[in-house]
Amino acid sequence: MQKLVWKDAYDIGIQVIDDQHKMLINIINDLYAANASGSAHLVMESIFKQLADYVHYHFSTEEDMFQQYGYPGAQAHIAEHDEFRDKIKNLQGENRSGNIILSLKTIDYLKDWTINHILGTDREFSNFIKSVEL
Ligand SMILES: [Fe+2]
Repeated sequence: MQKLVWKDAYDIGIQVIDDQHKMLINIINDLYAANASGSAHLVMESIFKQLADYVHYHFSTEEDMFQQYGYPGAQAHIAEHDEFRDKIKNLQGENRSGNIILSLKTIDYLKDWTINHILGTDREFSNFIKSVEL
């Protein structure tokens, strides 16, 4: 497993969203570093707290923009956000019940979801915004 390195391809061209995506990648990398040094169990609670905050402000940023622009893909996009919200809650619950291999499972999920979501669903939204603003 490797840490995530931001690539230009992850930029969707909406500054506020790109900046927030970079914050998520930082959280994932903090967990990755803690896991690599054997101290993941010490940071898991704080990581889940940061993820819960992130989910709240970042998804609100995007979902407010869906409304503002009357985005037709909003429902499917929000469904992906909901899946992430639920998964984070479940993983946090597992953490509280003392699952010691949870950090790896969490990193895996976060990495997969984040990259797929940014490259697919978020990019579709950005393409839509560009098409209505031109
Ligand atoms: Fe999104």
